[in-house]
Amino acid sequence: MTVRDRVLSGMRPSGTLHLGNYLGALANWVKLQDDHDCFYFSADWHVLTDDLQTGDVPQNTIDMTVEWLGAGLDPERSTLFIQSQVPEHAELHLLFSMVTPVSWLERVPTYRERIEQQEITSPSYGLLGYPLLQSADILMYKPKWVPVGADQAPHVELTREVARRFNNAFGAVFPEPDVKLTEIPKVPGTDGRKMSKSYGNAIELADSSETIRQKVRPMVTDPARKRRTDPGNPAICPVFDLHKIFTPDAEREACAQGCRTAGIGCLDCKDVLLKHMLPPLEKIRERRQSFAEKPDRVKEILMEGSRRARAVAQKTMAEVRAAVRLNP
Ligand code: TRP
Ligand code: SF4
Repeated sequence: MTVRDRVLSGMRPSGTLHLGNYLGALANWVKLQDDHDCFYFSADWHVLTDDLQTGDVPQNTIDMTVEWLGAGLDPERSTLFIQSQVPEHAELHLLFSMVTPVSWLERVPTYRERIEQQEITSPSYGLLGYPLLQSADILMYKPKWVPVGADQAPHVELTREVARRFNNAFGAVFPEPDVKLTEIPKVPGTDGRKMSKSYGNAIELADSSETIRQKVRPMVTDPARKRRTDPGNPAICPVFDLHKIFTPDAEREACAQGCRTAGIGCLDCKDVLLKHMLPPLEKIRERRQSFAEKPDRVKEILMEGSRRARAVAQKTMAEVRAAVRLNP
């Protein structure tokens, strides 16, 4: 058997996911399972850096995993697990905290943004350590690749520096992982802004075909096309951004042509989009529904995955403890 390169990535458990989450991350995770040894996890400890009210976390973990499975993550091929079920991450985080200058963490852009945007006057030790816990999440599995969006790239860069510092201090334990930047297509919401849960403009993976139709029909288009006879500009139309994702080239070009010449109306254009958009989403929805009906099965998948992940983590920690040499 050939050895497949290992991949590791995670998401904070945020509950159900929308089309933007799918196209921005999940679809890529699903593809990677074909030729990589994939570890994907729910970063539940990381939620605590944001909110100490954990009431929703258990259900959000299940809901997010339902979406993962619906999107096609296969627990036979990928290890799906929960961060807090592998407490070795915390031990490694502690040891990393000894080799990491505070100034490295204070420089991390996501930290600075969080403090500014949320006007946090007294950031917790855990918030400062957020990317270092992430480094522990990553290095524990010695992955070759970490598929993430561009916002997370500085965290992977920090991870490489931490690996180097640790190796210099204690011996060569950790290979440096590489970021695999996910090419994220522009996914507009129904109001034309970026698709986001908080904007209320999202197409959810849980939405039925009928619901999606009801969301797409009134969707914002080129504002210059007030009347059916006004020509439009697909380049500035959010509906056309969705065409780029779902509609095959020839039909998409025909829509663009019809738009520019006022040969078709926006509703015709949206119907073409729906024809191509609904079937793949319906497939995801059916699969996610079958898992949503079996939360116990989903939990079992996560517990089984966490056992598998933990076996790997324990092996790494045995090496780490031997390298750090504290015990008589
Ligand atoms: N910080 C990541 C995010 O907000 C989640 C995360 C935690 C993660 N640990 C990770 C991602 C390790 C990749 C690898 O999306
Ligand atoms: Fe947008 Fe299509 Fe209407 Fe043109 S015809 S403005 S691309 S929805």
